[in-house]
Amino acid sequence: MSPPQRDRRARRFGAAALLLAGITARVTLAQAPAAPPGVQNAQRAWQNWTLNCQGCHRPDGSGSAGTTPSVAGTVSRFLSAPQGREYLTRVPGVATSPLSDGDLSELLNWMLWRFDPQHMPQDFLPFTAAEVGELRKRPLRLEASQMRRELLTQAGAAAAP
Ligand code: HEC
Repeated sequence: MSPPQRDRRARRFGAAALLLAGITARVTLAQAPAAPPGVQNAQRAWQNWTLNCQGCHRPDGSGSAGTTPSVAGTVSRFLSAPQGREYLTRVPGVATSPLSDGDLSELLNWMLWRFDPQHMPQDFLPFTAAEVGELRKRPLRLEASQMRRELLTQAGAAAAP
């Protein structure tokens, strides 16, 4: 192959690769759902989940049998119980995480939307940094599991017709 021929081939290949990259980027953008209310940066929320939570809760929120409950398909049910917001913020893994109040409220909003959109109440108001900052000052300790049981019973009752 002569050098000019090689050049032409390289250019054609480069153009095809660019076109493909463009199409892929557009398809990806089209499929990515918009960030939910209270989430400024879904990528950041996901990274915070990866670094601070998924060790126990697993990347897909399914939890670890016997130690960590699943948040997938269940976590938003707490929002139907009167003290549910408080529980979600004061539970130890949340309240004592090293994240700032702003990042933590974003992460909670992201988590509810990512792992349990089906149980989110219609009138859900996103967590704010101020709310989370206030509630996390009183992390739950041993009473967490008791409160958890009570809230789930209440949420079940509230969800029943
Ligand atoms: C060391 C393991 C561990 C880490 C890390 C952890 N959690 Fe948890 N999480 C638990 C356990 C265990 C429970 C059950 C309640 C309890 O006894 O603390 C729980 C409960 C929860 C709940 C309430 C759901 C329910 O069904 O009770 C939420 C929400 C939650 N975690 C979110 C998070 C988030 C967000 C992070 C990261 C910022 C995180 N957790 C980090 C272990 C962990």
